[in-house]
Amino acid sequence: DWTPGNVIADQVAAIKAQIGDARVICALSGGVDSAVAAALVQQAVGDQLTCVHVDHGLMRAGEVEQIETDFVASTGVNLVIRDEKERFLTALAGVSDPETKRKIIGREFIRVFEDAQRDIVAEAGAHGEEVKFLVQGTLYPDVVESGGGEGAANIKSHHNVGGLPDDLDFELVEPLRTLFKDEVRAVGRELGVPEEIVSRQPFPGPGLGIRIVGEITAERLEILRRADAIAREELTKAGLDNEIWQCPVVLLADVRSVGVQGDGRTYGHPIVLRPVSSEDAMTADWTRLPYDVLSTISTRITNEVREVNRVVLDVTSKPPGTIEWE
Ligand code: XMP
Repeated sequence: DWTPGNVIADQVAAIKAQIGDARVICALSGGVDSAVAAALVQQAVGDQLTCVHVDHGLMRAGEVEQIETDFVASTGVNLVIRDEKERFLTALAGVSDPETKRKIIGREFIRVFEDAQRDIVAEAGAHGEEVKFLVQGTLYPDVVESGGGEGAANIKSHHNVGGLPDDLDFELVEPLRTLFKDEVRAVGRELGVPEEIVSRQPFPGPGLGIRIVGEITAERLEILRRADAIAREELTKAGLDNEIWQCPVVLLADVRSVGVQGDGRTYGHPIVLRPVSSEDAMTADWTRLPYDVLSTISTRITNEVREVNRVVLDVTSKPPGTIEWE
């Protein structure tokens, strides 16, 4: 019968049979799926696996550290972090259009990952080893969805770490292909993947880049990162993480309004809270968060993030609004 332990035993055997003595690489986004897939492969073939995290500078506060320290500590995985913050900021300079942002982020991601692959292949080759396999955290719903057309991808071009070019000369290892999200979480917990990663809510591949309405700059990213960290902290403190599907925090960087903060007039930016309830992200309703929680988040953000003088709540369902603002 179905237990996380049985899934792990079966998959470890299957992965060993597939990979043999070869080397294998995995792109680690910080999300649940790639983390659990990597942990499974690590369990099966240990040091033959190298994980690559592309740090595009669009992650939320603490997320890269979580991968860098917590994930590595719990799994012992070989991890290469490519610090590409400058590269992404440069490529995105002056761009406000959402689809253009998505395309640039997707394109740069692939280039960086290909560079990383080339380095790993070259290094392994120097030791007479062969790198033939690529791990992907494909889930059962992804398998079904890609058989049934593009779906939501028609509305926005989704960037996933899985969305790598098909001309790569790698054989895929997809140990989560038969699993649903909650099963992946159970397997991850059994493997000792940190709870902060296993229970993480969905987060888009282009990260905070599509939560800044307007041009992306280092300063704007920092403002959003601080506001987002406060909202997340308060939602967790209030025990609401399981009530909401996710809560994007959005910076309206091109909008300014007049406020009064401290002892003077300010001309700052609004932050939007977008808490949603959903079963599958195809449709969603806005979550009726308790007023006192909203109030605490609002007070803290406007007190602690000087550049923000207004916090607004998005009360739009999907449709007509999408979950993300871009
Ligand atoms: P929308 O905004 O289309 O989002 O209602 C639906 C769900 O998908 C997530 N999302 C993404 N996930 N890459 C991803 O991996 C992306 O490019 C992307 N865009 C949106 C979004 O957070 C929500 O859960």
